[in-house]
Amino acid sequence: MEIDRRAFIAGLGGAAAVAAMDHEAKAEALEHYMEEQLDASVAAQNGGQEKFPTVAEIEAQIETRDFRRGAGSLFTSGRGNVKKLPPMPDKPTLKDFFELRFAPANHVLQSATRAMKTGMSEEIILACLLHDCVLSLIKPDHGWWGAQLFEPYVPEKTAFAIRYHQTLRFYPDEEAGYEYPDQYYRIFGHDYTPPQYIQDTYKWLKNHKWYMEPRLVTVNDLYAFDPNAKVSIEPFLDVVGRLFKQPKEGLGYDNSASAHMWRTLARPDNPL
Ligand SMILES: [Fe+2]
Ligand SMILES: [Fe+2]
Repeated sequence: MEIDRRAFIAGLGGAAAVAAMDHEAKAEALEHYMEEQLDASVAAQNGGQEKFPTVAEIEAQIETRDFRRGAGSLFTSGRGNVKKLPPMPDKPTLKDFFELRFAPANHVLQSATRAMKTGMSEEIILACLLHDCVLSLIKPDHGWWGAQLFEPYVPEKTAFAIRYHQTLRFYPDEEAGYEYPDQYYRIFGHDYTPPQYIQDTYKWLKNHKWYMEPRLVTVNDLYAFDPNAKVSIEPFLDVVGRLFKQPKEGLGYDNSASAHMWRTLARPDNPL
């Protein structure tokens, strides 16, 4: 397979960012890039038509794994043993978590970049930046978990957008420019129907005055690995500084309703 070196390096944030990556991280990024390219070329050979699995086929995979698909990404490796994590500073900030626990965070950084480029509000830019971070901790119902994690520190609209983007991901909105994602045919099965509570939440959301807040998160929520995207937390630090109420004790130590979740993210190797 041919690798477009320039596009690949740009996709990782440029030559300086690549130089700062350790060998392992580079190998992982390369593998991820090649997987994407391979999927794209297989789809092209099938006349552009990718064959998506059924719900039953996905369910049949459960007992082929030694982890559950809902485990947060910090808790499984997917390839060999997990790695020792760098320690967190005593009073960790959101930036520290981005760099030491959520990294590489490509997907959320790309979402926030798109929100900023298209002139969305700061509440939405922040929601895009944070919308999937909780996947490091846990995956099922990540909209609700994610909103709970950030709620003590962000504007109400931002938490609302994070909580409900999970539901709206299942429902296209042509006018807003959101289509049902192919990624969902791949990960849930092409014949998947969202459970009743998601259907009920959607019904309620459709008439909510803040419907557009989570909807705009879905509009920026693209899984495509854009090889030309340069992503880093730096361009968002001003928005974070204005809207994110960083606790002076550090995230995890301020006695907020979600402090324990931050501590779990800081120390995922603790046995209890
Ligand atoms: Fe999400
Ligand atoms: Fe997402």
